[in-house]
Amino acid sequence: MSVEESEKTKAIGPAPEEDLIKLTSREKKKIDWRDKLYLAPLTTLGNLPFRRICKRLGADITCGEMALSVNLLQGSASEWALVKRHESEDVYGIQLCGSNAEAMIKCAELLDREIGVDFIDINMGCPIDLVYKQGGGSALMRRQSCLEHMVRGMTKVMSIPLTLKMRTGVYRDASVAHSIIEKAKLWDVSMVTLHGRSKEQRYLKLADWKYIKECAVVADPMPLYGNGDIFTYEDYKYQKENSGVAGVMIGRGALIKPWIFKEIKEEKHWDITSSERFDILKEYVNYGLEHWGSDNEGIEKTRRFLLEWLSFLHRYIPVGVLEQTQKINQRPPLYRGRDHLETLMISKSAKDWIKISEMLLGPTPPDFEFLPKHKANAYG
Ligand SMILES: Cc1cc2nc3c(=O)[nH]c(=O)nc-3n(C[C@H](O)[C@H](O)[C@H](O)COP(=O)(O)O)c2cc1C
Repeated sequence: MSVEESEKTKAIGPAPEEDLIKLTSREKKKIDWRDKLYLAPLTTLGNLPFRRICKRLGADITCGEMALSVNLLQGSASEWALVKRHESEDVYGIQLCGSNAEAMIKCAELLDREIGVDFIDINMGCPIDLVYKQGGGSALMRRQSCLEHMVRGMTKVMSIPLTLKMRTGVYRDASVAHSIIEKAKLWDVSMVTLHGRSKEQRYLKLADWKYIKECAVVADPMPLYGNGDIFTYEDYKYQKENSGVAGVMIGRGALIKPWIFKEIKEEKHWDITSSERFDILKEYVNYGLEHWGSDNEGIEKTRRFLLEWLSFLHRYIPVGVLEQTQKINQRPPLYRGRDHLETLMISKSAKDWIKISEMLLGPTPPDFEFLPKHKANAYG
């Protein structure tokens, strides 16, 4: 940002001109985005207990689960619970999803004023029909004048940085992220994360890091984070160095092996044992009971979220049993664990995940059933 721009006065607060509190953008809080490991926002799975684990294992930046601006404005208690921060989250943001610029601006102002967070992110990637049809999530990539109004309005009322998380575009062969990034530089956006897939594409093809690289050049000097398919420290190193991004965001890699952050920082593979993995589950359950309560309701909530997580965790193949490094998009070969617990942990059967939950939380209630919410397969 130029000196002239940083001297400009910014307005926060409700509309009438005379009521506006003036805030110079010099006073805006800043984040040093360089070289940080960013745990992706993950609906349902990226809850506070999970983020605590990722923080302990080396994640630098964390973000709450996507929250709908309209629900926050209506005071929905469950939506407000989604944006709660743990004290270990030292660079923490909230991801907002919405289609109406005015509601998003109001919500940003409210969050900035009422709760301590370090940044707010606009969700421009959500592919879910319900969100998309209403013009939110990835539909914002097609509604650029609304987006401009939304972004300019939000940066005006916020004292903390605004970031955008987008995909390459809506359609596979019509990438538009580069042109939005070019404009975002003029809108006072602090950082953009680009998930290298279109809305249409889902997880079936690998993320396009060549395009991410092109966008990092367009974004400069605004930092760009690259996102997609990072599963080992080698993936991280290769994509970070080759694309020239400021940092990398990790989603499924952290769900399948939350120790990925430690592996990246220490530049090695961790041949983690089944009992070390079980200790991580115990830690999660303790954080879960602390967060959701240790009464019956809290126990069953913790169990549900643990089962959701196990639907990702079982995809991890211990490095010690593999001849080649595991890739996120490869279907794991059939193999037997090195001990009984490891074999149980790699099971694809929800019945076995329930067994693991019973080892940690006691027997399930009668007629208990579980179907995972997310089927974002790591290997298509
Ligand atoms: C279970 C799940 C939930 C997700 N929820 C969100 C979300 O709330 N907001 C968002 O921007 N992206 C969400 N994503 C997308 C991820 O943040 C990330 O962009 C995507 O998974 C690609 O990164 P990866 O290849 O490292 O997983 C979600 C992904 C998964 C698998």
